[in-house]
Amino acid sequence: MAKEPMRVLVTGAAGQIGYALVPMIARGVMLGADQPVILHMLDIPPAAEALNGVKMELVDAAFPLLKGVVATTDVVEACTGVNVAVMVGGFPRKEGMERKDVMSKNVSIYKTQASALEAHAAPNCKVLVVANPANTNALILKEFAPSIPDRNVTCLTRLDHNRALGQISERLSVQVSDVKNVIIWGNHSSTQYPDVNHATVKTSTGEKPVRELVADDEWLNGEFITTVQQRGAAIIKARKFSSALSAASSACDHIRDWVLGTPEGTFVSMGVYSDGSYGVPSGLIYSFPVTCSGGEWKIVQEAGTVDPEPVAPEEGPEPDLPEVDLLCLESFDEAAEDF
Ligand code: NAD
Ligand code: LMR
Repeated sequence: MAKEPMRVLVTGAAGQIGYALVPMIARGVMLGADQPVILHMLDIPPAAEALNGVKMELVDAAFPLLKGVVATTDVVEACTGVNVAVMVGGFPRKEGMERKDVMSKNVSIYKTQASALEAHAAPNCKVLVVANPANTNALILKEFAPSIPDRNVTCLTRLDHNRALGQISERLSVQVSDVKNVIIWGNHSSTQYPDVNHATVKTSTGEKPVRELVADDEWLNGEFITTVQQRGAAIIKARKFSSALSAASSACDHIRDWVLGTPEGTFVSMGVYSDGSYGVPSGLIYSFPVTCSGGEWKIVQEAGTVDPEPVAPEEGPEPDLPEVDLLCLESFDEAAEDF
């Protein structure tokens, strides 16, 4: 029997990530090849015409799974009945603006959108915040939508996770699909910590630790980390626009694994609300290694133990966890004051 369509909201849908993301959702990349979808696309009035153009293209592409399109500048219409909300829209920092100026604008945007989701989304709606600063925007949304369960509000660090997989794959000349269990700790910002201490590569003789195969600690502890931390800036320098297709694809990975589950023995990175694990203060939205099953994420408590061939403690250095970055809490307080 055909499944009932799921309603997926994309805010900022007329922007560049939105343009890459909506066809992926309509093709089943996010929720599965047997899951019909109804797309809800929200943007602001100056982008209404462009948004309508995206809707026209979705119709023209004749996606078999796409059962309807709502393209609107009305936040309540956009949020009504949605099962998944991907928050891509936000106020970009412009020349001469302070970070705090962006923050206070985002408080206003995310407060309105949080209230609309709280009042009108489907029960148990899963929220993924992509717009920067992603951890902080997710925290704002969580604060202003208290009836949405904390565990349903997440932010995107899967792009950083995928970037780390890509770097290891290139370094070792192996398929990226054979590399797994890297971890991104912290914020989607240059303060994040990409960690390979539990990462493995599938080889013809079984799974091998990345640290054993790379055998160049200087690269793993230096250039690898800075390349992943600064990849967003490198893309902007090369493209003159920030990452879009990789961000859209990673957003699909994040939701797909959350809804449909992570493969056995594999963990992924998600920005989720901290329950105090690893000494990260409760309530922060922080990127952890997680496994997902039955539509729920769970923080991996001893990173590495879900791996069929875990790295024995004596074989590799302990993860060198960074100091917890409290920037997002401070920024939230500052922005909330302004608001
Ligand atoms: P963009 O400027 O091309 O698109 C943003 C869209 O949001 C625009 O169409 C704009 O009109 C819309 N918008 C602005 N305010 C809105 C509001 N109140 N409601 C609805 N829509 C609104 O930007 P983009 O390249 O698509 O990037 C979007 C965001 O994602 C940026 O903040 C970017 O920094 C961030 N980003 C995050 C990651 C990540 O991994 N977390 C990766 C790449 C980009
Ligand atoms: C990215 O990581 O590509 C985005 O967050 C864009 C940026 O500003 O780096």
